Amino acid sequence: MENIITLHDLSFEPYISENQIKDAVKELAKKINSEFGGEELHIVSALTGSFIFTADLVRELEMPCQIHFVKVSSYHGGTSSTGTIRLETDIQLDFSNKNVLITEDIVDTGLTASFLFELIKNKGAKNIKLATLLYKPEAYKQALNIDFVGFSIPNEFVVGYGLDYKEIGRNINAIYKLKQS
Ligand code: XMP
Ligand code: MG
Repeated sequence: MENIITLHDLSFEPYISENQIKDAVKELAKKINSEFGGEELHIVSALTGSFIFTADLVRELEMPCQIHFVKVSSYHGGTSSTGTIRLETDIQLDFSNKNVLITEDIVDTGLTASFLFELIKNKGAKNIKLATLLYKPEAYKQALNIDFVGFSIPNEFVVGYGLDYKEIGRNINAIYKLKQS
């Protein structure tokens, strides 16, 4: 098959195209614009995976935005979650009375999303919503509601558009999934 890519020792096949991603990001932005209106919004983006999604999304948002990054890790380089979250870089800001949108590249078990939600809640935010480009419903184990979802996908390992396999593949414009051999 054409367009198979190899990252380290694994092969990946095309899954979600650049145009499909663009349309989904625009659609998400439309919903977020109508949810928050003209009120100032604080974006909290989970590094590293969501840097591209966040960059594309915020350019479609119409309200004044402040952008913050937190660094968390749960995968530690492999293709499955470890079940523990490490906060590597925190935000030094009081979120009292602020609207916050957490942006994630992908919600898998939901551990990262819940961790971030608690982190922001403890900083006093009045309203916290969660946006993710990709969501794996079969893997999701949390009660937390995910407010804005780009694509619901099966429980498969994906790369590209910010997502990596052992830190490689983030700069690929489309999303690829692990090829079944
Ligand atoms: P949890 O389980 O906390 O996981 O929802 C979220 C984080 O795990 C990473 N992740 C992936 N990374 N391809 C990746 O490159 C995947 O298919 C995948 N699934 C989960 C990602 O860092 C995400 O923020
Ligand atoms: Mg990763």
